[in-house]
Amino acid sequence: MNVGRERFGAGIVVCCFGAAAVASALVYRSPLASIPRPDPQSFSASLIERGATLAAIGDCDACHTVDDEAPYAGGLPMATPFGTLYVTNITPDEATGIGNWPRDAFRRAMREGVSRDGRHLYPAFPYDHFAEVDDADLDALYAFLMTRRPISATSPTNKMIFPLGFRPLLVGWKLLFLRKGPFVRIASQSDEWNRGAYLVEGLGHCGDCHTPRNLAGGEKAGHAYAGGVAEGWNAPALDASNRAPRVWTIDSLYNYLRTGMEADHSAAAGPMRPVAEHLSIAPDSDVRAIAVYVSSLMRGRTQTLHEVPPIDKEAGAKREHPVGATLFAGACGGCHEVGAPMMVGGRPALSLVSVIQEDDPRNTVQIMLEGLQPLVAARAPFMPSFADNLVDRQIVELAAYLRSRFSSRTAWPSLAETVAQLRKEDSQP
Ligand code: HEC
Ligand code: HEC
Ligand code: HEC
Repeated sequence: MNVGRERFGAGIVVCCFGAAAVASALVYRSPLASIPRPDPQSFSASLIERGATLAAIGDCDACHTVDDEAPYAGGLPMATPFGTLYVTNITPDEATGIGNWPRDAFRRAMREGVSRDGRHLYPAFPYDHFAEVDDADLDALYAFLMTRRPISATSPTNKMIFPLGFRPLLVGWKLLFLRKGPFVRIASQSDEWNRGAYLVEGLGHCGDCHTPRNLAGGEKAGHAYAGGVAEGWNAPALDASNRAPRVWTIDSLYNYLRTGMEADHSAAAGPMRPVAEHLSIAPDSDVRAIAVYVSSLMRGRTQTLHEVPPIDKEAGAKREHPVGATLFAGACGGCHEVGAPMMVGGRPALSLVSVIQEDDPRNTVQIMLEGLQPLVAARAPFMPSFADNLVDRQIVELAAYLRSRFSSRTAWPSLAETVAQLRKEDSQP
């Protein structure tokens, strides 16, 4: 699985060497004394339950669980341009997990990216966001993790390219990019907005994917939510430059985040699908608060892409892309054509989905390669993967046809290169 969050850019070597030298005093972090594993009975049921919800909002299992039979036992390889990093075991196993961690060690790891033994942790663990989480929520998370089943599992050794395997260099990265929490309330905004901001900026770490990164892998200052890259997918802009044909409202954001599908927009695919899956079990008021905050980020959207009724330039697109049109009729139309049975059930029309409007064609291509099982309506139709049934040239024709028919934007340049590149990434283990 390719989980490159592209956090390690070329600049990290230079900037980290430089900054780490300046900050050598900060390199050393003391180990915190280990404790016997806390008695699970010492945590109240309500605290554990709150921790479970917070773990869902924080997507802990998206990275820490590889095998559903071994929750939170780690082992996931995270491919970065500078080598492979393995996610660690955070079950309460004393020898291989965090069973002997005192609460303070957990707080420090979550906020400062320092392990109990004093090692600096790679920012593939989004502690730059978790730094904003308050003590009460971190303690609930600690209670939740300490009451999971201890699993003995040691992750493989990281294969980082020299010198990035040298952890003290991370101090340089932290000096440049680690925010100094905690979350600061904005008094002029409502409680709901502040709750949403706290969750989005902190535990929800939405910017981890939706904010572009600089060469050193830090989130670009001044470009929060301008759109980023995650696992070979595009994480669209959540600011005023969002490209969705219809402007997102609080209600439509709430539906999308809660159910993974919104009839006026899209279904959550790729790395966004687990995010929506987790939010489907979060408290309703929290998901609504997130929607309120995200909609405020998008305020002032200047695009005038949305046309009602939705764009459908079928005849013109067919003239321009006859091969794509034929492929679409054969392979896709049975589900997606106007009036197809699936469409009658309130599914988003292709003329409304964001992916076809985006500057980058990669999500449209990824959906064809990987398919899509919408979160809601498990018994309803799902989109099969076409990776084995369409050759690259056919995927290019189809994407060009979709763009021409369902958007008013110019053709995607370098479509063939995108398809070839994604195909290569997908075929890697
Ligand atoms: C995007 C992937 C990702 C997510 C999401 C994530 N983690 Fe991690 N986490 C990692 C990686 C990678 C490491 C190991 C970093 C290293 O070895 O330097 C890690 C390390 C840790 C550690 C330190 C373990 C040790 O032995 O030093 C703790 C504690 C932890 N994570 C807790 C959590 C919790 C709690 C959540 C959810 C709120 C969470 N993580 C969400 C990727 C993630
Ligand atoms: C692991 C990476 C990742 C994280 C974390 C993440 N997203 Fe996303 N998000 C994506 C990707 C990729 C897409 C595009 C999905 C698609 O094309 O179906 C997306 C799509 C979206 C969309 C739809 C935008 C549009 O115009 O179609 C919204 C809204 C959204 N995310 C909100 C959030 C919020 C709020 C959070 C935090 C709670 C979040 N995301 C966290 C990767 C992520
Ligand atoms: C068996 C039914 C089926 C077939 C065949 C099918 N799809 Fe889909 N497709 C779906 C479902 C289900 C979704 C999820 C969204 C929804 O329910 O509308 C989806 C989503 C999509 C999306 C993204 C929508 C979003 O919400 O982000 C695109 C683009 C797409 N399909 C293109 C195609 C293309 C191109 C083909 C032909 C190569 C195709 N589909 C064939 C069922 C199908």
